[in-house]
Amino acid sequence: MFNRSNPVRLAILGCGGRGIGLSKEFEKIGLGKVVSLTDRNSDSLKYASSVFPTASVVKESRDLGKNNDIDAIFIATPEATHVQLALEQKGSGKHLLVEKPMATTLEDCNRLVLGFQSESKVVKMVGLCMRYNNLIKRMHELVASGTIGEVITSYCVDNVAVAGDYYFHNKITHHNEVMGLIQQKGCHSLDAISWIIGSRAVKVHSFGGLDYYGGEEPSDKICSTCDEDCAERKEPRVKSNRAKVVAGVQEFCAYSRDVNVWDNSVVNVIYENGAKLSFIECHFAPDYSREFTFIGTKGRICARFPHNGKPELTLTFRHRAEVIREEVKMGLGSHFGGDRAMLEEFVQAINENRPALTDFAVGREASAVAACAEKSIVTGLVVDVPNVDGSKRTVHARKGRSRGISRRSLSEEIIAVPSAQI
Ligand SMILES: NC(=O)c1ccc[n+]([C@@H]2O[C@H](COP(=O)([O-])OP(=O)(O)OC[C@H]3O[C@@H](n4cnc5c(N)ncnc54)[C@H](O)[C@@H]3O)[C@@H](O)[C@H]2O)c1
Repeated sequence: MFNRSNPVRLAILGCGGRGIGLSKEFEKIGLGKVVSLTDRNSDSLKYASSVFPTASVVKESRDLGKNNDIDAIFIATPEATHVQLALEQKGSGKHLLVEKPMATTLEDCNRLVLGFQSESKVVKMVGLCMRYNNLIKRMHELVASGTIGEVITSYCVDNVAVAGDYYFHNKITHHNEVMGLIQQKGCHSLDAISWIIGSRAVKVHSFGGLDYYGGEEPSDKICSTCDEDCAERKEPRVKSNRAKVVAGVQEFCAYSRDVNVWDNSVVNVIYENGAKLSFIECHFAPDYSREFTFIGTKGRICARFPHNGKPELTLTFRHRAEVIREEVKMGLGSHFGGDRAMLEEFVQAINENRPALTDFAVGREASAVAACAEKSIVTGLVVDVPNVDGSKRTVHARKGRSRGISRRSLSEEIIAVPSAQI
């Protein structure tokens, strides 16, 4: 049993911003100790060693599996490398926490799920931290308890105000390092929605555009040597401790001809249980927030999740005028408590010898929808989301799903809506 007196010995594979940040949380909440560092970039390793001075440096990632002093490996390299690096650890007996998105293509997702199918003794988790925050958990609890009846339709908006900093000045949108921002960013909401609806995607249709960023500026143009009065100029900022050590400031022109990902997209999904979703991702939004609406046979949940404010959750019911507002307290630490809750789930799953809530099969679902959405944008077609073995999924909707719900039972259930315990 891993606990404070027997801490999980963690290796970080990919000592960038996320590798270091999440591992610091891991140690801070007493789940374990970082014992090993691997990165192909010497500046990243140098900084990581200053943060975790007792951890040893392991040069080759494939050697991590042979090291008896390591219990678990946190893979926090860029997404296109996740699958190959995880597969290297097959048979090693190490528990794996692979950052989101699990992979960039459907083929890679399947390779990872199938590759680890027989590895039942290790925890194989994807870092979809967003679903572990209290607002998402509360919506899941409300839907699972039948409070709004069966969810029939839903919509979600990912408003991203930070995309310049996070993506469009960054090499990841210039060098094909991501397979689109639906995969990179949207996978969190797509995962949370599928969990709340309680079903898997069957078909996807989407549109996308690069309408705000991108353009004809040269590939090597950077903000610090540009004189233009530009709204998207990357201002020189006080460098973080990491940035002082790690080379490669990301200040490419956001209007570069190399920008090659959509900055806005609309993704429509139908799920096996007949529920539908319309998901909008916008990378030039004025604010940074997520909005969710789930409409069921009895009522509706609306939630808004600003990244620098209090979340809002309201419940409304058919044939009733009042709106019920709930206060949901978010947890401590990064990602509004989602990171800590996710790390706790990782260690609990190891201790209980069971799959984690966001195991590889679950992580594959969000990435599969994103990959199919990208395909739909390019082809203009409705794209089937297949099972791992390639077989087709079907929608099992039935008609008249509100039959049997009486007005009387509606009002009784409103009174019975549990207040948020979270
Ligand atoms: N869960 C979240 O909310 C969240 C937040 C941020 C980042 N992420 C994910 O974490 C991952 C890393 O993101 P980041 O922002 O830390 O990136 P980063 O560029 O800061 O760090 C990546 C590190 O991996 C190293 N690396 C690259 N390829 C390698 C290889 N083959 N072997 C060893 N090291 C290698 C790089 O040198 C770099 O130090 C991405 O998949 C990203 O999507 C998730």
